[in-house]
Amino acid sequence: MNALVMNCSPVKTGATAEIARIASEQLSGKYKVKSVCIDDYDFAFCKGCRKCHETAACVQQDEAELLMAEIEKADVILAVSPSYWADVPGQFKAFIDRCTPWCNTHEPYKAIPSGKKGYVIALRTGPSLRECEKIIGTLEHFYGHLDIACGGGLGLPSVEHKEDVAARRQEIIDFCKAIVVIGSTVSGTIDRPLGSAHPDYPEMIYPINYGYVNGVFADDGEEQDVYVLGTDKPLEKFEGRVIAVYHRTNDNEDKWVVSLDEKGYSDEEILELVFFQEKYYEGRLIR
Ligand SMILES: Cc1cc2nc3c(=O)[nH]c(=O)nc-3n(C[C@H](O)[C@H](O)[C@H](O)COP(=O)(O)O)c2cc1C
Repeated sequence: MNALVMNCSPVKTGATAEIARIASEQLSGKYKVKSVCIDDYDFAFCKGCRKCHETAACVQQDEAELLMAEIEKADVILAVSPSYWADVPGQFKAFIDRCTPWCNTHEPYKAIPSGKKGYVIALRTGPSLRECEKIIGTLEHFYGHLDIACGGGLGLPSVEHKEDVAARRQEIIDFCKAIVVIGSTVSGTIDRPLGSAHPDYPEMIYPINYGYVNGVFADDGEEQDVYVLGTDKPLEKFEGRVIAVYHRTNDNEDKWVVSLDEKGYSDEEILELVFFQEKYYEGRLIR
């Protein structure tokens, strides 16, 4: 399995490059990782001629195609982008524009192989997460039109220099751990079966089975907690596939979501099923 880590900044030694380096290191446990920088590629701006709407090919031949070839080879794509004026850097935006021959909004278009997942890490100097969310939205839009399923994003505000990244290392590692674990089969113990009451808050009745993965420890030092979907019966043990990670942004515990059936749960369905507990936290799903 191949992963592509894209430094969307033209700076090869900055904060973005450092985040991309940490992410590549983490993903290399599972994937054959290729790391690229947008500045490695020399390509022209889109001319807006729309010839590609008729031919599914660009009138210009240059290195934009080389970067697209890397996307075509990858099973997982991770874009690491700084905020430049509240969006992706111009060089990367120019690449997105050049991907119009591959864009699924017109026929014909050059479809890329299916089944890919795309992720985003967005960083910025300013303190608010909102601008990072905007960049995650830009990449989500890009992935969507290439038929790449967007698995989610991590926002890292208050990062300007390479040296600022050290304090955020754990967040980057946790995000990459989620990318790596999704799709794997895990087994464990249910200590809070469906229908049972919370030991400290007896009015809280578990609407789904909740337990932990045997032998896997989370950042809080406890065994990794899981929400188990796909049965209406209380369980003692489980074995299933990790279909998502609920990443808490105001707590150090991420929760894995395990499915026992092959039902394709939507984000909304998962969020509804874990709401009984996650309503007390802030966070987001990584798929
Ligand atoms: C041209 C330019 C525009 C920027 N615009 C913003 C901005 O709008 N908001 C923000 O929070 N940071 C902004 N920054 C700061 C970068 O997001 C931040 O320094 C990031 O760490 C740069 O990473 P890099 O050096 O790896 O490219 C800007 C930086 C540059 C060079």
